Amino acid sequence: MRCDQTPAWAELQAHARQMAGFDLRQAFAHDPGRAQRLSQAAPHLFADLSKNHWDAGTEALLLDLAAQCDLAGQRDAMMAGEPINRTEGRAVMHWLLRQPAGSLQGALAAPLAQVHETLAAMLAYAEQVRADAAITDIVNIGIGGSDLGPQMAVLALQDRVLPGKRFHFVSNVDGHELAAVLRGLRPEHTLFLIASKTFTTLETMTNARSARAWFEAEGGREVGRHFAALTTNVQAAADFGIRTTFGFWDWVGGRYSMWSAIGLPLAIAIGAEGFRELLAGAHAMDQHVVQAPLAQNLPVRMGLMDVWYRNFLGYSSRSIAPYHSALRRLPAYLQQLEMESNGKRVDQQGQALSYATSPVLWGEPGTNGQHAYFQMLHQGSDVVPLEFVAVKTPTHTLPDHHALLLANALAQAQALMLGQHDAGGHRHFPGNRPSSFLLLDALTPTSLGALIALQEQRVFSNGAIWGINSFDQWGVERGKVLAKDVHARLQSGDVAGLDASTAQLLQRLQQA
Ligand code: F6P
Repeated sequence: MRCDQTPAWAELQAHARQMAGFDLRQAFAHDPGRAQRLSQAAPHLFADLSKNHWDAGTEALLLDLAAQCDLAGQRDAMMAGEPINRTEGRAVMHWLLRQPAGSLQGALAAPLAQVHETLAAMLAYAEQVRADAAITDIVNIGIGGSDLGPQMAVLALQDRVLPGKRFHFVSNVDGHELAAVLRGLRPEHTLFLIASKTFTTLETMTNARSARAWFEAEGGREVGRHFAALTTNVQAAADFGIRTTFGFWDWVGGRYSMWSAIGLPLAIAIGAEGFRELLAGAHAMDQHVVQAPLAQNLPVRMGLMDVWYRNFLGYSSRSIAPYHSALRRLPAYLQQLEMESNGKRVDQQGQALSYATSPVLWGEPGTNGQHAYFQMLHQGSDVVPLEFVAVKTPTHTLPDHHALLLANALAQAQALMLGQHDAGGHRHFPGNRPSSFLLLDALTPTSLGALIALQEQRVFSNGAIWGINSFDQWGVERGKVLAKDVHARLQSGDVAGLDASTAQLLQRLQQA
């Protein structure tokens, strides 16, 4: 049943009206068990969801909604390998990439065996590159899901990165990016990883060709040794002249692919053992998703809270603030995960929706954000739920810093909720602003894997409630087609049939 036609949806609408005067400070004052009830441990992390605009009654109704939308059934269909990505006729099995070897029977046993065969080959290659002192620079050429995951993770785990290896990520077709990276490289010391699920993406193919041309022009020999491909399109990689290819499968969505061969830069950076720890952390979260009752299922609870905020309280964006500078690419990674998955306006049957879907996701590491846009979070006209991610134990040994960092994260969550009422006018903080707090003991491959799997499963949960296909991305196709047309027109100067604005800009770009 479509979510907006369920009895629970109507009850949540009525409940939202009753919650109009909800105040977090009073909620805590009247309910000593609130912090505990709306918090929970999940594998490798802890989440405090109690400073949010909801209560036990809200959650009970949201769980009814989950039942009426058959969230558990939809999850089980994904975990059974059913083709739930209906517009592309594909299964959705990125979770299989972190499933232990030999742990499944039946139809999924064979794909799991293939996963482990490829994983073993890729990790052996990663170890070979790690041992090869001549290779000092690894350049990942890829975009979107073929860039953001490994880039985010290599940065996050920078303290575990093998000394003597530098990692570069080139994504944009803007030649300034590739040119700046190439300036510091020598062909004989460089390994290019061409990462593209389709091996057709314009940006990646353009960068890959330019990298190969540079390699040859600079006297590089043995393209086979200095280029490897990570792709489902093994033939296209061979046609490009690449001998070393690590494949994956069409049931791995681009934005869900960091666990596959797309993770090779990370595997080179942190080693085979570290990569297996990442997979184990993610698998532990998958187990939690499958085994925990929905009321104690953290990704489900967070996904339901997202639906509550988006559809009943009207909060149209969510900000993410990692209080750890190594997690500085996490907001960009989560943007693609959430917004490319759930930025949809039709249901699974292609019918237009009458309710909102993906919020706008954005953010920067703390404390930097405090000195930039937190003003708006505290005193702006919109309510923006903020998600803190903090790590208990640092990897550096500098005194003072980490306690100050953590104190700031806690203080911001406090200030958002408590506000300040003893001053008027410009100094008045209304407070009652919502936030969630995710806490990791340490930033390790295991906890990072769990954190990312949590976010994936949460995106699945809210997409399943909304009844949309979280695993296609038709919305990016139109721009690709038009770019080809405009590119040809930039060469020819032909503006016939263009709108006046595009024609004017094109002509200005053509003027000598
Ligand atoms: O254009 C969007 C997109 O298809 C993303 O979904 C994907 O992650 C990215 O492009 C890169 O695609 P590929 O890995 O096929 O180069």
